[in-house]
Amino acid sequence: MRTLGVNIDHIATVREARKIREPDPVAGAVLAELAGADGITVHLREDRRHIQERDVRLLRQTVTTHLNLEMAPTEEMTQFAISVLPDMVTLVPESRQELTTEGGLNVSGQFDNISKVVTALKNHDITVSIFIEADQRQIKDSKKIGADFVELHTGKYANAFEMAEQGEYEGELRLLKDAAQIAHKLGLGVNAGHGLNYQNVQEIAKIPGMRELNIGHSIIGRSVLVGIERAVREMKQLIKEA
Ligand code: PXP
Repeated sequence: MRTLGVNIDHIATVREARKIREPDPVAGAVLAELAGADGITVHLREDRRHIQERDVRLLRQTVTTHLNLEMAPTEEMTQFAISVLPDMVTLVPESRQELTTEGGLNVSGQFDNISKVVTALKNHDITVSIFIEADQRQIKDSKKIGADFVELHTGKYANAFEMAEQGEYEGELRLLKDAAQIAHKLGLGVNAGHGLNYQNVQEIAKIPGMRELNIGHSIIGRSVLVGIERAVREMKQLIKEA
């Protein structure tokens, strides 16, 4: 079954723009679940630019579906995850300068380090997913390292789709389909995410055996627009009634 994991990081981005309490991503998670989200995803970054530790701890208590914590494979983050016990951890690469996660994790290039993290998480019954490019070697090493899932990076596909370069977008789609097939054959679950939006999501949702699609920016971005009418009306009413 295909499921939707709603990434609520950018509710926290808006909150952190003012460093106040609103909008609270925890409230956003409740509403996303009421609207049918199958899971809630957050990325606790080293620089804490959006989601804070407090958010993840509260989400652990309030999320009723499935909590997926995206994090870098570091000792500090591993200890944090073990203290919170999300349902799933998705290991992602991280660099301070990037605007968003730019590429997949190089499992093959950091095998020993990632292996320690995966073992520690699995010892605490946390399901482990690894965010990788659609690359055969990375898939095989993700399996070898003990991951339960891979999350295929759809960023290149999304960019190609945006540019409407038919050939290139089909090439990227083919790579994702082949990667999903290889991962399945190895017994890995397959998730996907990054850059998915209302225009490009269906081709990815159609990939056989696809499980969770993790989608953030497009959903939070759209909610700002579809919610603006009501928000303005409510403020206008308060001013009128004063
Ligand atoms: N999956 C992973 C591993 C990510 O790092 C991100 C971005 O935080 C997403 C999915 C969601 O990407 P987007 O915000 O572009 O939908």
